[in-house]
Amino acid sequence: MRSIIDVLDLTVEEINELIQVALDIIEKPEKYAEVCKGKKLATLFFEPSTRTRLSFEAAMYELGGNVLGFSEAASSSAAKGESVADTAKTISCYADIIAMRHPKEGAPYVAAQNASVPVINAGDGGHNHPTQTLADLLTIYREKGKFADLTVGFCGDLKFGRTVHSLINALSRYKNINIVLISPEELKLPSYVKKDVLKKNGIPYEQTTDLEAVMPKLDILYMTRVQRERFFNEEDYLRLKDSYILTPEKLKNAKEDLSIMHPLPRVNEISVSIDKDPRAVYFKQVLNGKYMRMALILKLLKEAGLL
Ligand code: NCD
Repeated sequence: MRSIIDVLDLTVEEINELIQVALDIIEKPEKYAEVCKGKKLATLFFEPSTRTRLSFEAAMYELGGNVLGFSEAASSSAAKGESVADTAKTISCYADIIAMRHPKEGAPYVAAQNASVPVINAGDGGHNHPTQTLADLLTIYREKGKFADLTVGFCGDLKFGRTVHSLINALSRYKNINIVLISPEELKLPSYVKKDVLKKNGIPYEQTTDLEAVMPKLDILYMTRVQRERFFNEEDYLRLKDSYILTPEKLKNAKEDLSIMHPLPRVNEISVSIDKDPRAVYFKQVLNGKYMRMALILKLLKEAGLL
């Protein structure tokens, strides 16, 4: 049974196919309105979510399917001590496909090992978030028309930000990508990502604390929220939370065709006055996420022989 736990579970060719399906869905939504009739998606969310859970649900509804699930651990049997493995076996009796978010790294992998239906990782701790990456990739494709020859800046919490880890993994497979890592000292990209992804693939990268100094060279600026829930103490969070606040002033030397991305939720790292700047594409990213999740649900159900 094919599950998607890591973005690298998909080949570059498969990602291209998902993008083509998403573009076809955007153009001809009526063609897809009934394709998942009678099929059920379970959303098992052990951690808060707005976009990921609701876009999975909207995706399944727009494919003509149905949705069941829970949106917090407290309302599931996890609160009684049930294991992820048993939950996965149970939900396999009710649903055709599962999207799972969990605070523990690796939990969706354990679910996939025990489920008899496909499992999609909807975010596991500070580790990975492959479907956000699919949203990000469709956004980059629609904005830039390519994945190669780009200088991509990641700014904010690069230590705990799972969307950053997944997108860096995905980008490492394209040609002539330059990565700029902008963060406070304490929130630098984990060394395992630098070693296993950037160094291993020969991707040029630099690390800095100074966003404005690197702004002129960026084609994409990927802003992130400081991940409060992953800090060991509140004091460190309070000290670091406002390290970067993107304002129109800081964009003075940015490229005219810069794309400003953010997986959202935003706390205050992007001033709302930037929302009307045509370079701000974070709400487009939200919509693109729904289309890519539709394409992924279709692909996995087809491969499972359920469509
Ligand atoms: C992200 C996540 O959950 O990792 N949100 C999302 O799914 N769009 C980013 C975040 O919470 O900061």
